[in-house]
Amino acid sequence: MTSFVEVTHDGHVSTLTINRPDKLNALSQEVLSDLSAAIETLATKGDVRAAVITGTGKAFVAGADIAAMKNMTEAEGRAFGVLGHEVFAAIENLRCPVIAAVNGFALGGGCELALACDFIYASSKAKFGQPEVNLGIIPGFGGTQRLPRRVGSALARELIYTGKMINAEEALRIGLANAVFEPEELLPAAAKTADEIAGKGPLAVAAAKRLIRDGVDVPLPEANRLEQAAFGEAFATEDQREGMGAFLDKRAPVFKGA
Ligand code: COA
Repeated sequence: MTSFVEVTHDGHVSTLTINRPDKLNALSQEVLSDLSAAIETLATKGDVRAAVITGTGKAFVAGADIAAMKNMTEAEGRAFGVLGHEVFAAIENLRCPVIAAVNGFALGGGCELALACDFIYASSKAKFGQPEVNLGIIPGFGGTQRLPRRVGSALARELIYTGKMINAEEALRIGLANAVFEPEELLPAAAKTADEIAGKGPLAVAAAKRLIRDGVDVPLPEANRLEQAAFGEAFATEDQREGMGAFLDKRAPVFKGA
């Protein structure tokens, strides 16, 4: 059976492409399961140092699958929300950074998927929003929590209460997207940044991702203690010797991730 998520590898960079264009890549249970399997592939592959998630066609992801949700019971709705949370947490828990290359509509679960990635590059055609209130529901895959953490509480409240869509420039202005590109430049730009990240010490990048992820939800003194421990641990790696040795030898480092 073909998967709704295509996985490709190029060196140390993997790309996941959500591929259900006839339904604007809407997240059904099947799409979420395929996404989960793709993330598991990255987690177990070992040599993946950066990843990109994008969508086929005019959407990144136009949301959770409305047709599939229409007749869900309360228990089924809760279970569907839990599944979405689990899959998106698996993205956050990947060792390597993940760039969301938002090629088009990123609505509802699509915006939430992008928010579970480390940062967002947007096509000039991208549109973002949390339109769930139009459907009588709330964001259920982390939007009420990750959006305010990303853009601030007041802007997140406005976006979630009104359900309005914003364009790429507005997303850039409010700090939801890091950069905006012409549509044909989006994937090359994401791949270039992913390549750049993949050339750094992978253990160091992974530790930085973990600290940034875990640090936001703990008091600053405790978060700083996490950093102090991880900084010390970096000196137990071959990569630290290699990185500093290469600098002093005036040559490019070759990191092994060890
Ligand atoms: N769930 C299920 N199917 C979806 C979907 C979703 N979230 N978003 C789009 N689709 C389907 C449409 O039903 C349509 O299917 P059909 O061809 O069988 O009728 C197909 O994808 C194309 O969508 P369409 O609405 O015709 O495209 P458009 O360009 O006119 O509009 C959007 C694009 C994104 C504005 C519109 O599809 C939309 O509002 N989608 C829902 C967004 C949303 O509320 N997401 C949050 C869900 S919790």
